[in-house]
Amino acid sequence: MKLIIGGSTGFVATELLSQALKNPAITSIIALGRRGATVPADANSNAAKTKLRSITCENFEEYPDSVKSELANADACICRAEIPPALQNHGLVDYGLLRGETETLILDYAEQSQGTVQSCIVKPGLIDAPGAEKREIPGLPHIDLPDIAAALLDQVIRGFEKDTLSNDDLVRIGQRALAGYSKG
Ligand SMILES: NC(=O)c1ccc[n+]([C@@H]2O[C@H](COP(=O)([O-])OP(=O)(O)OC[C@H]3O[C@@H](n4cnc5c(N)ncnc54)[C@H](OP(=O)(O)O)[C@@H]3O)[C@@H](O)[C@H]2O)c1
Repeated sequence: MKLIIGGSTGFVATELLSQALKNPAITSIIALGRRGATVPADANSNAAKTKLRSITCENFEEYPDSVKSELANADACICRAEIPPALQNHGLVDYGLLRGETETLILDYAEQSQGTVQSCIVKPGLIDAPGAEKREIPGLPHIDLPDIAAALLDQVIRGFEKDTLSNDDLVRIGQRALAGYSKG
């Protein structure tokens, strides 16, 4: 499977990259970011050399042909849905409403593709890095960084359980996937 990881320099994407390099079902990884991706410290150097290509694109609203050709024939893409900064900073815009509309657009795009594209929205709570102090926001659930990365990979490899995954879904799927890896 050829997988694109968008925003590949980020906190979640870096763990995703690390797990994808170890996963035999992922044979090719395009790490797409505004800056080059860093090969995770625990990566097998042979896997990094054969599976990983770091592609930079300064503006995610315009993809030069050279970038498009690298993305061609991908089987899956995991990325954050981007709301333009100009709208995020607009005091009158309800950010939650805008987010909901973006999610609807993503799901509608897949529905209108008549089976060519499948999409899934994930709604994690606070993502905790191993060993780091837990932040608390009342009402927000938690998920461990390895669990969310494993859940995202599991879903692109095995198919989406449903079109929107809650924090509880992600914890359950991620822990099931990690338990499977540890059994070999
Ligand atoms: N961390 C959490 O606890 C948490 C909880 C729930 C949901 N989330 C969501 O999960 C996603 C990933 O979170 P994260 O913590 O991994 O974020 P992060 O560490 O801030 O990483 C964000 C990534 O997106 C890239 N990016 C940001 N703005 C961009 C733009 N306009 N165009 C192209 N690339 C852009 C960044 O690139 P640069 O390196 O070039 O800046 C970086 O690679 C986000 O959508 C976040 O809202 C996070």
